[in-house]
Amino acid sequence: MPGLRPAYPLRTERLDLRPHRMDDLDDLYAFHSRPEVVRYTPWPVRDREQTRVALEAKLTQDALTEPGQWLVLAIELRETGTVIGEVLLKWASDTDRQGEIGFALHTDYQGKGLAAQAAREVLRLGFEELGLHRICAVLDDRNKPSAQLLERLGMRREAHLIHCVFFKGEWTNEYIYALLEDEWRATTSH
Ligand SMILES: CC(C)(COP(=O)(O)OP(=O)(O)OC[C@H]1O[C@@H](n2cnc3c(N)ncnc32)[C@H](O)[C@@H]1OP(=O)(O)O)[C@@H](O)C(=O)NCCC(=O)NCCS
Repeated sequence: MPGLRPAYPLRTERLDLRPHRMDDLDDLYAFHSRPEVVRYTPWPVRDREQTRVALEAKLTQDALTEPGQWLVLAIELRETGTVIGEVLLKWASDTDRQGEIGFALHTDYQGKGLAAQAAREVLRLGFEELGLHRICAVLDDRNKPSAQLLERLGMRREAHLIHCVFFKGEWTNEYIYALLEDEWRATTSH
């Protein structure tokens, strides 16, 4: 697999997906600082300085050149130019053509179908442009909105792991969801 260097912005009906820029700091801070957004994400509630450091790391995550890397894109609401969240694609393995997706949205923009638009575009990138065979998602089993979104995308719950991580101070269960390239084609061919 040759990797992935998308032409930006990637457009959905209401969103532009694009690499992060340093001037996204205020928009990022608006959701990285919210306890309800980060409850089930790998990162903690962040202050402005912590958000700035996290943003700096995202600036270069705009392409996949080798397995193990994450593509990390800002989700910009086209009508206002506001960055309302982020969406991620990991190139997990070259030989097995495996990937993983992730996403987070500012609370004010949830419940509008916008995360689904961003996630669908990233699945398309993974299957149709990177050439993945299978894309998975890993989530806390209490994260209902995330599980519902994955099911809306046509992903299948494949595993329920009990106390597999010590996460934010407690033993936690995780679900693994996944979709295969043939299943993706079947959902997009009509
Ligand atoms: C997970 C997360 C991204 C889901 O976001 P979301 O906005 O609920 O997901 P969707 O984009 O699929 O939107 C679906 C909702 O929008 C509603 N909706 C409104 N207009 C819609 C439209 N035009 N099209 C589709 N859905 C629409 C749906 O009815 C649904 O509402 P419901 O959940 O009340 O049934 C969000 O909860 C989040 O960012 N959580 C915090 C971070 C996090 O936990 N990330 C995942 C870590 S694994």
